[in-house]
This record gives sequence, C-alpha cells and structure tokens, in this order.
Amino acid sequence: MNFEELKETIKKDLEKIQDSNQLREFSSVYLGKKGKIRNLFLELKGISLEQRKVLGKEINEFAALIQTEAQNLEKTLKEKEQEYKEKQNKLDLDFPGEKIETGHLHPLSTIRREIEQIFQLMGFAVVEGPEIEDEWHNFDSLNIPEGHPARDALSLGKTLYLETNEILRSHTSAAQTRFMEKINPPIRIVIPGRTYRSDKVDASHEVNFYQIEGLMIDENVSVANLKAILQRFLKEFFREDVKIRLRPSYFPFTEPSFEIDMNCAVCNGKGCGACKKTGWVEILGGGMVHPKVIENGGLDQNKYKGLAFGMSIDRLTMMKYKINDIRWFHSGNLKFLKQF
Ligand code: DAH
Repeated sequence: MNFEELKETIKKDLEKIQDSNQLREFSSVYLGKKGKIRNLFLELKGISLEQRKVLGKEINEFAALIQTEAQNLEKTLKEKEQEYKEKQNKLDLDFPGEKIETGHLHPLSTIRREIEQIFQLMGFAVVEGPEIEDEWHNFDSLNIPEGHPARDALSLGKTLYLETNEILRSHTSAAQTRFMEKINPPIRIVIPGRTYRSDKVDASHEVNFYQIEGLMIDENVSVANLKAILQRFLKEFFREDVKIRLRPSYFPFTEPSFEIDMNCAVCNGKGCGACKKTGWVEILGGGMVHPKVIENGGLDQNKYKGLAFGMSIDRLTMMKYKINDIRWFHSGNLKFLKQF
C-alpha cells in the first residue's frame, strides 16, 4: 500500500477508537514488529539509497508519532474507564428507588367482594357450591324436569357435560337444594361462583361467567322481603337511590317469579339507547322458592317459605365500571386491568 494512503487510513482508524480493546487491536495491526508500518520498510528495497534514506526517515518519524499518540490515547482511555468503574461502584443513597409493582384484584373479584360485603351486612352468610354438578341439583331438584321447555331457557343445549356423567353448573341456583340438604332453616345465604354455558362468545356472552345466588328460607318469608332486600342491595351497590320494579316472569324454581329491573343509570329513567328507551334495565331474576324445590331440598314445604334471586356478577361489574364488552375480563390485557 502506498505510504500516503496508509497514513490516512491509520489516522482515521485512530480517531475511531473508543476503548482499550480497540486500541490494543489497532496497535497490533499497525505498530508491532509485523505491523503494517514496519512492512513499509520492505517496500524500500527496490529504490535508490538517497530515496530510501528520505523515505525511511519519514516512516520512522510517522511511526514514532503514531506510537506517541497511541500512548496518550491509552492513558486517557484508562482514566475514563477507571472513572466509569468507580461511578458504577459508588452507591448513590439519594438515587430514587425502583418502584415495586404490586398486583391487585381483578375487577370481577373486587365487585364480587363488594357484593358479598353488602349481603353480609344484611345478615347473609357467603357460601360456595361445587362447579362440577349433577343434573339433580342443576336441573331436576329445581323443578326443571327432563324435556321441560325451561331446560332450554336455562340452556340445557348449552350445558357442558363431562365424561363422568356430571356437568359444569349452568347457574349458581344449583347450590340451592345442596344447602337446604345441609342446613336447617332459617337459611340466609348468598352463593357466588363460576358458571358455564357453551354460548357463542360475543360482547355480552361468555362461556365462563360469574353469578351470585341468594337464598332465604324461614317460616315467614314474603315478596315484600325480596323487594326490600334487593332494593337495599342495589342502593348500596350503586351508592344512589335506585328505583326497582318487579316484572312477572317465569322460572321453574320460583312461584311467583319476577324479573327485576332498576331505573337506567345512564338516562336516569328517561329512556335512552342503553335501556332501549324504556327507562328500565333488567338486572336480576328472583321469586318465591317453589314448594317442590323446598321439598326436594328435604324441607317441609308446609312449614317453610323461601325467597331466591340470582344475578350476573359480570353484568354488575360492567354496569358499575361502564365496560361495554364482557370479553375484556378474560382478555389478560394489562392496559385494561391496570385501570382498576
Ligand atoms: N338461575 C337463573 C339464571 O341463571 C337466575 C335466577 C332466577 C336465579 C330466579 C334465582 C331465581 O334464584 O329465583 O338465569
């Protein structure tokens, strides 16, 4: 390589050096005994003595210059590196600590706990039934005999069957007769839990959702109690005075049966898109426990009366937080979850 070209390359390479490692590499390529500068002397062989003297001197001077520059650079780099090391080792006690991220409850859990608390304050015990049920508790004992059209309404076609002849409960009502078998009246319980239906998933349907069931059995229980309990519950839950109405309806396990509406919180009962212009939104189902169900639970239907109600925790959570799609709950989306 031409001497002038080599000079340029060397100068450029020298400028690029950032740390001791690169400098070591540079020195071995250019400055060592077998380095590229020394190699230049080999090329002097073919030229005249005069020229050789002149060029030789130039090469030597250049080599010395680069050598010095490399040494200076080495010093600066070492200092810098030392400084960096010291900085790294020094403990800065004023440095703000790293925030430890703590987890928090899922919105469905928060709301479930809130609902439970309200009922506990009204004297209800919180109990749980099994998610894997038998048809007796999920259907038959609730006065939903085989072939009964209500089985469709309660999603027989949507019930998830297991190989063991058992099913995944399609509603928390399944636990009603279980607790009648276990405890003597007065019974005053709420039963929260997961429920399953093989629904087509969309903005308001999930395969796995949550319900909470209420059951009260005693000698003197009436529709007035049902209304008062639900009115009080909704008032506490929405933290405002809500109006409710009981609309006659049909469930096989209650007689009479009601669908319970509350005045639409979005339009305050005036009528809007959210309540389909009616001013009311349906929020739960309930009624007086059918005498047959009381009997199926092993209790004396002549002695005892009961009230029952059931509602979707997912739905109440959506209403409270104004969530428009049930699929958010199981999406695992942290942006969504961190808002609660
Ligand atoms: N089990 C019903 C459902 O899943 C809800 C329900 C209605 C529960 C009326 C009750 C009741 O206890 O009395 O849709």
